[in-house]
Amino acid sequence: KRPIRIAVMGAGGVGAKFLERCLEWSDLIEVDRVLVRDPSKRRDHPLAAAFTSDARNFVRNDVDVFVDIGTGVSPSAELLEGFLKAGVSVTSANKQAVAASGDKLRAAAKASGAMLTYSASVGGGAPVIEALKRAVKSHKVKSIAGVLNGTSNFVIDQVESGKSFDAAMDEARRLGFAEPDSTADLDGTDVGAKLKLLREIAFPGLTPAHLEVGQITEESLIIPTGKGLRYVARCYLTEQGLQASMKLEVLDRDHYLVGARGEQNRAIIELDNGETWYVTGKGAGAWPTTESLLADVLQIARESKLSQ
Ligand code: NDP
Ligand code: HSE
Repeated sequence: KRPIRIAVMGAGGVGAKFLERCLEWSDLIEVDRVLVRDPSKRRDHPLAAAFTSDARNFVRNDVDVFVDIGTGVSPSAELLEGFLKAGVSVTSANKQAVAASGDKLRAAAKASGAMLTYSASVGGGAPVIEALKRAVKSHKVKSIAGVLNGTSNFVIDQVESGKSFDAAMDEARRLGFAEPDSTADLDGTDVGAKLKLLREIAFPGLTPAHLEVGQITEESLIIPTGKGLRYVARCYLTEQGLQASMKLEVLDRDHYLVGARGEQNRAIIELDNGETWYVTGKGAGAWPTTESLLADVLQIARESKLSQ
Protein backbone atom coordinates (compact mmCIF):
# COMPACT_ATOMS: atom_id res chain seq x y z
CA LYS A 1 0.00 0.00 0.00
CA ARG A 2 1.13 3.56 -0.64
CA PRO A 3 -0.24 6.76 0.97
CA ILE A 4 -3.03 8.68 -0.77
CA ARG A 5 -1.31 11.65 -2.43
CA ILE A 6 -3.27 14.91 -2.18
CA ALA A 7 -3.12 18.54 -3.28
CA VAL A 8 -4.90 21.02 -1.01
CA MET A 9 -6.22 24.54 -1.48
CA GLY A 10 -6.44 26.53 1.76
CA ALA A 11 -4.64 26.52 5.09
CA GLY A 12 -6.90 28.93 6.97
CA GLY A 13 -9.15 28.15 9.94
CA VAL A 14 -10.32 24.80 8.52
CA GLY A 15 -7.33 24.05 6.25
CA ALA A 16 -4.78 24.33 9.09
CA LYS A 17 -6.71 21.73 11.10
CA PHE A 18 -7.03 19.48 8.05
CA LEU A 19 -3.25 19.62 7.42
CA GLU A 20 -2.59 18.87 11.10
CA ARG A 21 -4.71 15.69 10.80
CA CYS A 22 -2.92 14.71 7.58
CA LEU A 23 0.43 14.99 9.39
CA GLU A 24 -0.95 12.75 12.15
CA TRP A 25 -1.91 10.23 9.46
CA SER A 26 1.20 10.63 7.34
CA ASP A 27 1.44 6.87 6.74
CA LEU A 28 -2.01 7.09 5.10
CA ILE A 29 -2.05 10.55 3.49
CA GLU A 30 0.80 12.42 1.79
CA VAL A 31 0.33 16.17 1.22
CA ASP A 32 2.07 16.98 -2.05
CA ARG A 33 1.28 20.73 -2.31
CA VAL A 34 -0.88 23.40 -0.67
CA LEU A 35 -2.20 26.46 -2.48
CA VAL A 36 -2.59 29.65 -0.41
CA ARG A 37 -2.59 33.35 -1.17
CA ASP A 38 0.56 34.05 0.85
CA PRO A 39 2.99 31.11 1.38
CA SER A 40 5.47 33.31 3.30
CA LYS A 41 3.12 33.26 6.31
CA ARG A 42 3.98 29.54 6.77
CA ARG A 43 7.78 29.49 7.00
CA ASP A 44 7.71 27.48 10.23
CA HIS A 45 5.02 25.03 9.18
CA PRO A 46 6.11 21.35 8.98
CA LEU A 47 4.82 21.42 5.39
CA ALA A 48 6.51 24.76 4.55
CA ALA A 49 8.14 23.37 1.39
CA ALA A 50 4.73 22.30 0.05
CA PHE A 51 3.12 25.78 0.16
CA THR A 52 2.69 27.72 -3.08
CA SER A 53 0.66 30.61 -4.45
CA ASP A 54 1.00 29.44 -8.04
CA ALA A 55 -2.63 28.67 -8.95
CA ARG A 56 -1.87 28.48 -12.68
CA ASN A 57 0.36 25.42 -12.38
CA PHE A 58 -1.51 23.81 -9.51
CA VAL A 59 -3.61 21.38 -11.57
CA ARG A 60 -1.55 18.31 -12.40
CA ASN A 61 -2.59 14.66 -12.47
CA ASP A 62 0.26 13.56 -10.20
CA VAL A 63 -2.05 13.40 -7.13
CA ASP A 64 -4.95 11.11 -6.23
CA VAL A 65 -7.28 13.70 -4.66
CA PHE A 66 -7.67 17.48 -4.69
CA VAL A 67 -9.05 18.86 -1.42
CA ASP A 68 -10.64 22.30 -1.76
CA ILE A 69 -10.72 24.27 1.50
CA GLY A 70 -10.52 27.66 -0.20
CA THR A 71 -12.99 30.52 -0.11
CA GLY A 72 -15.08 32.24 -2.79
CA VAL A 73 -15.97 30.94 -6.22
CA SER A 74 -12.68 31.59 -8.01
CA PRO A 75 -10.13 30.00 -8.29
CA SER A 76 -11.72 27.05 -6.40
CA ALA A 77 -14.26 26.38 -9.14
CA GLU A 78 -11.64 26.41 -11.93
CA LEU A 79 -9.32 24.18 -9.89
CA LEU A 80 -12.09 21.69 -9.10
CA GLU A 81 -13.03 21.50 -12.77
CA GLY A 82 -9.39 21.32 -13.87
CA PHE A 83 -8.57 18.44 -11.53
CA LEU A 84 -11.74 16.54 -12.48
CA LYS A 85 -10.94 16.97 -16.18
CA ALA A 86 -7.45 15.63 -15.47
CA GLY A 87 -9.03 12.53 -13.92
CA VAL A 88 -8.28 13.50 -10.31
CA SER A 89 -11.11 13.02 -7.78
CA VAL A 90 -12.00 15.98 -5.58
CA THR A 91 -13.65 16.91 -2.31
CA SER A 92 -14.69 20.44 -1.40
CA ALA A 93 -15.77 22.29 1.74
CA ASN A 94 -16.33 25.39 -0.41
CA LYS A 95 -20.08 25.44 -0.94
CA GLN A 96 -19.97 28.70 -2.92
CA ALA A 97 -17.63 27.24 -5.56
CA VAL A 98 -19.55 23.95 -5.91
CA ALA A 99 -22.96 25.67 -5.95
CA ALA A 100 -21.80 28.13 -8.62
CA SER A 101 -20.43 25.49 -10.98
CA GLY A 102 -22.23 22.23 -10.18
CA ASP A 103 -23.23 21.43 -13.76
CA LYS A 104 -19.69 21.94 -15.10
CA LEU A 105 -18.22 19.88 -12.26
CA ARG A 106 -20.68 17.00 -12.75
CA ALA A 107 -19.97 17.02 -16.51
CA ALA A 108 -16.21 16.98 -15.94
CA ALA A 109 -16.51 14.13 -13.43
CA LYS A 110 -18.72 12.13 -15.77
CA ALA A 111 -16.33 12.60 -18.69
CA SER A 112 -13.21 11.54 -16.81
CA GLY A 113 -14.67 9.03 -14.34
CA ALA A 114 -13.17 10.95 -11.38
CA MET A 115 -15.27 11.39 -8.23
CA LEU A 116 -16.87 14.70 -7.22
CA THR A 117 -17.59 14.83 -3.46
CA TYR A 118 -18.47 17.76 -1.20
CA SER A 119 -19.90 16.39 2.05
CA ALA A 120 -18.23 19.11 4.14
CA SER A 121 -19.95 21.84 2.11
CA VAL A 122 -23.33 21.17 3.76
CA GLY A 123 -23.82 20.31 7.41
CA GLY A 124 -20.10 20.32 8.36
CA GLY A 125 -19.88 17.03 10.24
CA ALA A 126 -23.62 16.30 9.97
CA PRO A 127 -24.01 13.74 7.16
CA VAL A 128 -26.81 15.59 5.33
CA ILE A 129 -25.50 14.98 1.80
CA GLU A 130 -24.72 11.34 2.59
CA ALA A 131 -28.30 10.75 3.88
CA LEU A 132 -29.87 12.49 0.90
CA LYS A 133 -27.75 10.60 -1.65
CA ARG A 134 -28.72 7.35 0.02
CA ALA A 135 -32.43 8.31 0.15
CA VAL A 136 -32.68 9.19 -3.55
CA LYS A 137 -31.30 5.80 -4.58
CA SER A 138 -34.67 4.19 -3.86
CA HIS A 139 -37.20 6.98 -3.20
CA LYS A 140 -38.41 10.37 -4.32
CA VAL A 141 -37.94 13.26 -1.92
CA LYS A 142 -41.06 15.29 -1.01
CA SER A 143 -39.38 17.89 1.17
CA ILE A 144 -36.20 18.94 2.93
CA ALA A 145 -36.10 21.23 5.94
CA GLY A 146 -32.97 22.10 7.84
CA VAL A 147 -30.97 24.28 10.15
CA LEU A 148 -27.91 24.56 7.90
CA ASN A 149 -25.90 27.43 9.38
CA GLY A 150 -24.08 26.83 12.65
CA THR A 151 -23.05 30.45 13.23
CA SER A 152 -26.56 31.90 13.16
CA ASN A 153 -27.94 29.03 15.22
CA PHE A 154 -25.21 29.58 17.80
CA VAL A 155 -26.02 33.31 17.87
CA ILE A 156 -29.77 32.69 18.31
CA ASP A 157 -29.09 30.43 21.29
CA GLN A 158 -26.58 32.86 22.82
CA VAL A 159 -28.96 35.81 22.45
CA GLU A 160 -31.75 33.74 24.02
CA SER A 161 -29.52 33.08 27.01
CA GLY A 162 -28.85 36.80 27.47
CA LYS A 163 -25.70 37.58 25.44
CA SER A 164 -25.66 40.58 23.09
CA PHE A 165 -25.91 39.93 19.34
CA ASP A 166 -22.46 41.46 18.64
CA ALA A 167 -20.77 39.50 21.45
CA ALA A 168 -22.36 36.27 20.18
CA MET A 169 -21.13 36.95 16.62
CA ASP A 170 -17.63 37.69 17.93
CA GLU A 171 -17.68 34.40 19.82
CA ALA A 172 -18.83 32.50 16.68
CA ARG A 173 -15.92 34.06 14.76
CA ARG A 174 -13.45 33.23 17.54
CA LEU A 175 -14.62 29.60 17.61
CA GLY A 176 -14.11 29.29 13.83
CA PHE A 177 -17.79 28.80 12.96
CA ALA A 178 -18.26 31.95 10.86
CA GLU A 179 -17.48 32.51 7.19
CA PRO A 180 -14.45 34.76 6.42
CA ASP A 181 -17.06 37.48 5.67
CA SER A 182 -19.61 36.69 8.36
CA THR A 183 -22.44 38.63 6.70
CA ALA A 184 -22.79 35.46 4.58
CA ASP A 185 -23.95 33.65 7.73
CA LEU A 186 -26.74 36.17 8.33
CA ASP A 187 -28.09 37.19 4.93
CA GLY A 188 -28.85 33.80 3.34
CA THR A 189 -25.67 33.64 1.20
CA ASP A 190 -24.23 30.62 3.05
CA VAL A 191 -27.55 28.79 3.48
CA GLY A 192 -28.57 29.60 -0.12
CA ALA A 193 -25.53 27.78 -1.53
CA LYS A 194 -26.13 24.82 0.80
CA LEU A 195 -29.83 24.61 -0.10
CA LYS A 196 -28.93 24.68 -3.80
CA LEU A 197 -26.54 21.74 -3.32
CA LEU A 198 -29.24 19.75 -1.49
CA ARG A 199 -31.90 20.69 -4.02
CA GLU A 200 -29.74 19.49 -6.93
CA ILE A 201 -29.51 16.03 -5.31
CA ALA A 202 -33.12 15.82 -4.08
CA PHE A 203 -34.90 17.41 -7.05
CA PRO A 204 -32.55 17.08 -10.06
CA GLY A 205 -33.46 19.36 -12.96
CA LEU A 206 -36.01 21.39 -10.95
CA THR A 207 -35.54 25.00 -9.88
CA PRO A 208 -37.84 26.67 -7.36
CA ALA A 209 -40.78 28.63 -8.78
CA HIS A 210 -40.44 30.84 -5.73
CA LEU A 211 -37.58 31.47 -3.26
CA GLU A 212 -38.14 33.45 -0.09
CA VAL A 213 -34.96 34.77 1.58
CA GLY A 214 -34.96 36.22 5.08
CA GLN A 215 -32.14 37.98 6.93
CA ILE A 216 -30.97 37.67 10.49
CA THR A 217 -30.52 40.95 12.33
CA GLU A 218 -30.29 41.86 15.99
CA GLU A 219 -33.87 43.21 15.86
CA SER A 220 -35.24 40.03 14.22
CA LEU A 221 -34.26 37.75 17.11
CA ILE A 222 -37.52 37.96 19.05
CA ILE A 223 -38.38 34.61 20.62
CA PRO A 224 -41.96 34.27 21.92
CA THR A 225 -42.17 32.64 25.37
CA GLY A 226 -42.45 28.86 25.15
CA LYS A 227 -41.38 28.79 21.50
CA GLY A 228 -38.12 28.24 19.60
CA LEU A 229 -36.61 30.43 16.87
CA ARG A 230 -34.62 28.88 14.02
CA TYR A 231 -33.31 30.01 10.61
CA VAL A 232 -34.86 27.24 8.53
CA ALA A 233 -34.09 26.34 4.92
CA ARG A 234 -36.89 24.52 3.11
CA CYS A 235 -37.37 23.02 -0.33
CA TYR A 236 -40.55 21.12 -1.15
CA LEU A 237 -42.72 19.96 -4.02
CA THR A 238 -46.21 21.40 -4.48
CA GLU A 239 -48.75 21.20 -7.31
CA GLN A 240 -47.44 24.65 -8.35
CA GLY A 241 -43.89 23.31 -8.61
CA LEU A 242 -40.86 23.43 -6.36
CA GLN A 243 -40.93 26.00 -3.54
CA ALA A 244 -38.03 27.12 -1.41
CA SER A 245 -37.48 29.42 1.52
CA MET A 246 -34.84 30.29 4.07
CA LYS A 247 -35.93 32.50 6.92
CA LEU A 248 -36.43 32.78 10.65
CA GLU A 249 -39.33 30.63 11.83
CA VAL A 250 -41.04 30.40 15.21
CA LEU A 251 -41.44 26.69 16.01
CA ASP A 252 -42.70 24.63 18.94
CA ARG A 253 -39.99 24.05 21.52
CA ASP A 254 -40.10 20.28 20.98
CA HIS A 255 -39.68 20.62 17.18
CA TYR A 256 -36.73 18.55 15.89
CA LEU A 257 -35.07 21.63 14.40
CA VAL A 258 -35.29 23.59 17.67
CA GLY A 259 -33.29 20.70 19.17
CA ALA A 260 -30.26 21.78 17.07
CA ARG A 261 -28.25 23.49 19.80
CA GLY A 262 -25.49 26.04 19.21
CA GLU A 263 -23.46 25.31 16.09
CA GLN A 264 -25.28 22.01 15.45
CA ASN A 265 -27.04 21.45 12.13
CA ARG A 266 -30.15 19.32 11.64
CA ALA A 267 -32.17 18.22 8.62
CA ILE A 268 -35.51 16.48 8.05
CA ILE A 269 -35.94 14.62 4.76
CA GLU A 270 -39.48 13.48 3.88
CA LEU A 271 -39.81 10.72 1.29
CA ASP A 272 -42.70 9.76 -0.98
CA ASN A 273 -43.23 6.45 0.87
CA GLY A 274 -44.22 8.29 4.05
CA GLU A 275 -40.84 7.74 5.73
CA THR A 276 -38.93 10.64 7.30
CA TRP A 277 -35.16 10.76 7.83
CA TYR A 278 -33.63 12.88 10.58
CA VAL A 279 -29.98 13.99 10.43
CA THR A 280 -27.99 15.77 13.13
CA GLY A 281 -24.37 16.68 13.85
CA LYS A 282 -21.84 19.43 14.46
CA GLY A 283 -22.48 21.86 11.61
CA ALA A 284 -19.59 24.31 11.91
CA GLY A 285 -16.02 24.43 13.15
CA ALA A 286 -12.62 23.23 11.98
CA TRP A 287 -12.90 19.79 13.61
CA PRO A 288 -16.21 18.50 12.14
CA THR A 289 -15.37 19.98 8.74
CA THR A 290 -11.96 18.31 8.74
CA GLU A 291 -13.45 14.94 9.70
CA SER A 292 -15.95 15.22 6.86
CA LEU A 293 -13.19 16.08 4.34
CA LEU A 294 -11.06 13.17 5.58
CA ALA A 295 -14.05 10.82 5.26
CA ASP A 296 -14.46 11.89 1.61
CA VAL A 297 -10.72 11.41 0.90
CA LEU A 298 -10.85 7.91 2.39
CA GLN A 299 -14.05 7.08 0.53
CA ILE A 300 -12.44 8.16 -2.75
CA ALA A 301 -9.42 5.99 -1.92
CA ARG A 302 -11.65 3.00 -1.11
CA GLU A 303 -13.86 3.34 -4.17
CA SER A 304 -11.01 3.89 -6.58
CA LYS A 305 -8.87 1.29 -4.77
CA LEU A 306 -6.02 3.81 -4.59
CA SER A 307 -4.26 2.38 -1.59
CA GLN A 308 -4.34 -1.27 -2.63
P1 NDP B 1 -10.10 30.99 5.72
O1 NDP B 1 -10.37 32.35 5.16
O2 NDP B 1 -9.63 30.90 7.13
O3 NDP B 1 -9.03 30.24 4.80
C1 NDP B 1 -9.08 30.27 3.41
C2 NDP B 1 -7.79 29.72 2.83
O4 NDP B 1 -7.87 29.75 1.41
C3 NDP B 1 -6.55 30.52 3.24
O5 NDP B 1 -5.49 29.66 3.51
C4 NDP B 1 -6.24 31.37 1.99
O6 NDP B 1 -4.85 31.66 1.83
C5 NDP B 1 -6.73 30.45 0.88
N1 NDP B 1 -7.18 31.22 -0.27
C6 NDP B 1 -8.26 32.03 -0.35
N2 NDP B 1 -8.32 32.60 -1.56
C7 NDP B 1 -7.25 32.17 -2.25
C8 NDP B 1 -6.74 32.42 -3.55
N3 NDP B 1 -7.36 33.25 -4.40
N4 NDP B 1 -5.62 31.80 -3.94
C9 NDP B 1 -4.97 30.96 -3.09
N5 NDP B 1 -5.39 30.69 -1.83
C10 NDP B 1 -6.52 31.29 -1.42
O7 NDP B 1 -11.47 30.14 5.52
P2 NDP B 1 -11.96 28.89 6.39
O8 NDP B 1 -10.82 27.96 6.61
O9 NDP B 1 -12.75 29.35 7.52
O10 NDP B 1 -13.01 28.23 5.37
C11 NDP B 1 -12.54 27.54 4.22
C12 NDP B 1 -13.74 27.00 3.45
O11 NDP B 1 -14.41 26.02 4.23
C13 NDP B 1 -14.77 28.05 3.07
O12 NDP B 1 -15.21 27.84 1.76
C14 NDP B 1 -15.91 27.80 4.07
O13 NDP B 1 -17.16 28.17 3.57
C15 NDP B 1 -15.81 26.30 4.22
N6 NDP B 1 -16.40 25.72 5.40
C16 NDP B 1 -16.12 26.25 6.62
C17 NDP B 1 -16.64 25.70 7.77
C18 NDP B 1 -16.36 26.28 9.11
O14 NDP B 1 -16.89 25.76 10.09
N7 NDP B 1 -15.55 27.31 9.22
C19 NDP B 1 -17.52 24.52 7.71
C20 NDP B 1 -17.74 24.01 6.37
C21 NDP B 1 -17.20 24.60 5.28
P3 NDP B 1 -4.10 32.67 2.85
O15 NDP B 1 -4.14 31.97 4.18
O16 NDP B 1 -2.71 32.79 2.35
O17 NDP B 1 -4.87 33.93 2.84
N1 HSE C 1 -20.11 29.45 8.43
C1 HSE C 1 -20.71 28.17 8.25
C2 HSE C 1 -21.73 27.94 9.33
C3 HSE C 1 -19.64 27.11 8.29
O1 HSE C 1 -21.70 28.66 10.33
O2 HSE C 1 -22.56 27.05 9.17
C4 HSE C 1 -20.17 25.73 7.96
O3 HSE C 1 -20.56 25.63 6.63
